[in-house]
Amino acid sequence: MSEILKISSLSKKYRKNSFYSLKDVNITINDGDIIGLIGKNGAGKSTFLKLITKAISPTSGAIEYKGQNIHKANNVLEPFGIMIETVFLPYLSVIDNLNFYLEIHNKTEYKNNIKNTLNLVGLWAHRNRKPADFSFGMKQRLALAIALVTEPSFLILDEPFVGLDPIGISNLIDILKQWASKRQVTMIISSHQLEELESLCTRYIFIDQGKLRKAFNKSITLMEISTTQLSDDLINNLKQFGNTVEYNAKNQKIVISKDISQKELNSLLLILTQAQVINSISNNNSQLKGFFDTEKR
Ligand SMILES: Nc1ncnc2c1ncn2[C@@H]1O[C@H](COP(=O)(O)OP(=O)(O)OP(=O)(O)O)[C@@H](O)[C@H]1O
Ligand SMILES: [Mg+2]
Repeated sequence: MSEILKISSLSKKYRKNSFYSLKDVNITINDGDIIGLIGKNGAGKSTFLKLITKAISPTSGAIEYKGQNIHKANNVLEPFGIMIETVFLPYLSVIDNLNFYLEIHNKTEYKNNIKNTLNLVGLWAHRNRKPADFSFGMKQRLALAIALVTEPSFLILDEPFVGLDPIGISNLIDILKQWASKRQVTMIISSHQLEELESLCTRYIFIDQGKLRKAFNKSITLMEISTTQLSDDLINNLKQFGNTVEYNAKNQKIVISKDISQKELNSLLLILTQAQVINSISNNNSQLKGFFDTEKR
């Protein structure tokens, strides 16, 4: 994996504030990383994303995209698809908003993508309406369409799931998963919807009070099995699955990663059913949430 975005000693203090909204952040992002950006309200996530997309300038520090300082060079952000604030023209129809966006960015070759993109985000039926009086979720969908229409190779999405209905959320996750696997798109996605993030991301950045507290890799969880007390023999037996199966003795939970093979999954379930130790099975328990809790002070 090659380095694509290098962030060095990045700090941001908004002029009217006496405190730093982002302080001395260092991180390197690799081609194909699908990053979940997490942290409490006011932690600095949007500030971080706005700096990467040149919406604001850093107080100090640098961001290099493929070796070029984005705040010094021009047109570096060409391959980026960005959804941070819902920016569109309220009195132009949906379709004209996309046309206008492509024209001002000199990307009219993507006009053929408009129908497909509006279908993806479920707005094709509303293509001739003006977004001025759209519902919040519809506005979010339009902002997403603008971020996706140019088939970007780097996606920056700030809270993309907010306001979407359940079908909208699962469609978006499907699209992003497809893009991640088929086209190696690099993504940074901020969200408080941890379960959605966990079905998608392979790496996380945790920001707290403007500081990067933790960056870590975590494979996608397939399911979690809560069990009765396991015997030592059984716990030993689980070791054959390597790190695709983790046993948490304290909570009596077995966490199975998406990387497990079908054969292994079946033999694991056979072992557990034979021992009759399964209490419940779930696939939507956020482990990131537990991580948040432990970060409480
Ligand atoms: N334009 C601005 N001017 C002054 N202060 C700002 C500005 N934008 C953000 N801040 C401050 O910077 C800090 C970080 O804000 P930011 O929007 O980056 O947080 P966030 O992590 O995105 O939070 P949330 O989860 O609520 O979206 C906050 O204290 C906020 O008040
Ligand atoms: Mg924010």
